Amino acid sequence: MNITFDKVTGQFQLNNDRISYVMQVLNGGYLAHLYFGSKISRYRGSAALSYYDRGFSPQPYDFRHDRTFSLDTQPLEYSTYGIGDYRITPLHIQYKNGSTITDLRYKGHKIIAGKPELTGLPATYALSDEDAQTLEIELVDETEKVNVFLSYTIFHTLPVICRSSRILNNSDKAIRILKADSLSLDFRDHDFDMLTLYGAHANERNLCRQPLQHSIQTVASNRGASSHQQSPFIALAKPQTNEQQGEVYGFSLVYSGNFAIQTEVDQFGCTRLNIGLNPLDFSWQLTSGQSFQTPETVSVYSAEGLNDMSHTFHQLYRTRLIRGSYKEKLRPILVNNWEATYFDFNEAKIDQLASDAADLGIELLVLDDGWFGQRNDDNTSLGDWFVNTAKLPDGLKGLAEKVIARGLKFGLWVEPEMVSEASELYKAHADWCIQVAGHSFTEGRHQLILDLSRQDVCDYLVDTLSSVFSSAPISYVKWDMNRHMTEIGSAQLPPERQRETAHRYMLGLYQIMDKLTAKFPDILFESCSGGGGRFDAGILYYMPQTWTSDNTDAICRLKIQHGTSLVFPPISMGAHVSVIPNHQVGRSTPMQTRAFTAMAGTFGYELDLGKLSTADKAAVKEHVALYKKIRPTCQLGTYTRLLSPFESNESAWQAISTDGNQVVVTYCKILAEPASQIRILKLAGLDSNAEYKITDCYKPKRLSLVYADEPGSNLIGQSFGGDELMNAGITIDRIDADFISTMWILEKVK
Ligand code: DGJ
Repeated sequence: MNITFDKVTGQFQLNNDRISYVMQVLNGGYLAHLYFGSKISRYRGSAALSYYDRGFSPQPYDFRHDRTFSLDTQPLEYSTYGIGDYRITPLHIQYKNGSTITDLRYKGHKIIAGKPELTGLPATYALSDEDAQTLEIELVDETEKVNVFLSYTIFHTLPVICRSSRILNNSDKAIRILKADSLSLDFRDHDFDMLTLYGAHANERNLCRQPLQHSIQTVASNRGASSHQQSPFIALAKPQTNEQQGEVYGFSLVYSGNFAIQTEVDQFGCTRLNIGLNPLDFSWQLTSGQSFQTPETVSVYSAEGLNDMSHTFHQLYRTRLIRGSYKEKLRPILVNNWEATYFDFNEAKIDQLASDAADLGIELLVLDDGWFGQRNDDNTSLGDWFVNTAKLPDGLKGLAEKVIARGLKFGLWVEPEMVSEASELYKAHADWCIQVAGHSFTEGRHQLILDLSRQDVCDYLVDTLSSVFSSAPISYVKWDMNRHMTEIGSAQLPPERQRETAHRYMLGLYQIMDKLTAKFPDILFESCSGGGGRFDAGILYYMPQTWTSDNTDAICRLKIQHGTSLVFPPISMGAHVSVIPNHQVGRSTPMQTRAFTAMAGTFGYELDLGKLSTADKAAVKEHVALYKKIRPTCQLGTYTRLLSPFESNESAWQAISTDGNQVVVTYCKILAEPASQIRILKLAGLDSNAEYKITDCYKPKRLSLVYADEPGSNLIGQSFGGDELMNAGITIDRIDADFISTMWILEKVK
């Protein structure tokens, strides 16, 4: 890994063994983008920038005699508004005189060992000064006295560039930032498909693949959260790229609030990609001497397909984003009482659930919503974080001790960012909500959002939650958030800063999460927002796992987890088995399929174990034992998608342990078909020269409508070469029912 600057050519080159990123300071000091892709030892400009006189593409004044030079026609690194580049701009600032023109020229740069932190924001980090190198380029607008620092980090071993920008107001007047992106990247063609993840509550992260168009395409959230509806992710893949091969650029914004990702294919067939905070309803007042830091965007390049891109994201996020004692720790198998009881529980019921869970080998019991205030339904009590002793007479401590005595750990649900209108907190502090004076407010789930742009509210939450978390032996916290922002404004901000509220909220939230996770380092935090409404890299920096979706139906989960895995590692994805008929979609699926699907993430249960049939209880016991055997592989191994539920009636994935010795392969057929093709499943990423023994195969009984979860296969005990398993594949037995799954476990023969 190294970063070089050639004074003669003005060229920067960031290199590691897999990628290169190249920029050049052009005449006039404009910063051009030259290349991002597979490693080029020394970039000398064979694909030279071309200069033509293009109609309606104007010249900067200094270049007025050279009609071939226009900012409108060059690939630029961080273009600005108002000086002849008409494409989407990453930076838009309004000055005291009303002007919105910014003209940035190269001023200087520094190369730093390692990776500096981003003040107040989550970001990836380097493991040591040798693990990464950072280039900071300083651009300046000499007229407005504004400096922009573009930061580029390259990691030693990963095909990743992390970018962010910082705007410094060096003038003596306040300026207003209207838009400041983290990344702007120009490509010299538009031969790409764009892959994005869209969805809804209980239907998150569906994969959408469509060709880039000659227009501006936007993926965004204006909901005050990264959202279920769109994810802060985009990949640009060559049309031929698939899971196993082809070029792809993946981008993930490390932020949990409003964002916008835009692509523009311009008049000459070039593509610009901008990623950052959503400029809608955003502005930031920067007084003299102050600076504004944008969130970070992670850019991954792969020449080897989507799985390889995901492997890089998984590795980066597992090892250089997630922090704390649970970073590489195996996650416990949990049972959560939400779908078991909803609000209708008491100490005896929860204790019984703990007892049933202990019998089956489950390791953690999570008490979900309803333990506090008068919370017997979702109309009330958010903010009143004191125990409802009618339900739990011995308090959280008494219950937790009972659960622990049964051999489980105890976990707790909270939704701290919210307040119910019917609550003590709201009575005392109605002005603590996000609101605009004089307007009535919109409610979602009968709740309002606390104004985390206020320091007093943040301090209050840190104190209150600290008391709750220390009131009982709590090992796990599920941090929920169940509505989006409306009437965005803060009672404490002056009019000229009202449009800062949503971003200030995120900064407040990050501050709270930072303090609490530092104060309670042994608690495993799982974030949640009505399922996966805030499944993003920003939150992952503080909380190492996220509840993937409120939809626990195994078949819906095939898509939800497949989409999520584009960016996020399985260890970060909460996945639970629930009852049938499923509470969200009414579907009945075999217990084995529910379990195998949930084993693709951090495994758990979300049902009343006591109500299971004897056969189902036996199955749960078996699945819990099985998961313990394969947990390190599922949680820490290399996860690869083999068949896509978005493209077919089936789904398959595999995980290879970190030492390469264990392989877990799962296949699921969604609907049975007459005269179906015999599926040959080809494995991936094995050692071609090694032998693998199939030690277990869990499959349904042939022609049985009663799904028995019995192991058994004629392949068990047989060994095959890695080359054979990858190239010839394994035959999947014909299956005669819907929603059937099979799992193979292979061990490398030493
Ligand atoms: C939404 C979450 O996603 C659910 O798992 C559950 O915790 C409920 N909130 C509780 O209100």
